[in-house]
Amino acid sequence: MNRIVVATSNPGKVREIEEALAPLGWRCQGLEGVPLPEETGTTYEENAALKACAAAMATGLPALADDSGIEVLALGGQPGVYSARFGNLGNDRERNLHLLEKMRHQTDRRAKFVSVVVLAYPDGKLEEYRGEVEGQLLEGPRGDNGFGYDPLFLPVGSDLTMAEMSLEQKRAVSHRGRALAKLLAAHTSY
Ligand code: IMP
Repeated sequence: MNRIVVATSNPGKVREIEEALAPLGWRCQGLEGVPLPEETGTTYEENAALKACAAAMATGLPALADDSGIEVLALGGQPGVYSARFGNLGNDRERNLHLLEKMRHQTDRRAKFVSVVVLAYPDGKLEEYRGEVEGQLLEGPRGDNGFGYDPLFLPVGSDLTMAEMSLEQKRAVSHRGRALAKLLAAHTSY
């Protein structure tokens, strides 16, 4: 396999996926106009498969999609699979402020990120990899790298938020880095 479609319109995810998969030497192409389906699933697995299958069918190439989210213990696991739509707000900064507001006065700040990566083939075959990272939410943002809730999230054992890390540092600890490491291991042993 030498060419895959990266089925996401999130530039932050594209950067992380391309960096993590570089050792495989695959050529990663973007969606190039292929529309992604609505995320109608209720699990990361369903939504990742929906996106990857749609892109594989439309292009005739293997397609990789990530579905991910942040689960906050004190909020009963919210926003989880709905993280991109949290509060029906327009951008990451507004969603971060909304989360901080919901967590005001909350002393239990434990949270985890989850990523499910699906590689779908045009013949319908699917591979699925899951990664998680536990940590806690800060009371204000720190750092300019990454995307989404990264500035608020301090992984267990780290002094840096995920927005203070380089791509390489984030890959080593993050949910997506862990899911992609499993994909890498599976394809390196072929
Ligand atoms: P989706 O997988 O496109 O449905 O969106 C996942 C959403 O979860 C993103 O828009 C972010 O808000 C959040 N998210 C997922 N992964 C990360 C991450 O690595 N850092 C920060 N936020 C993330």
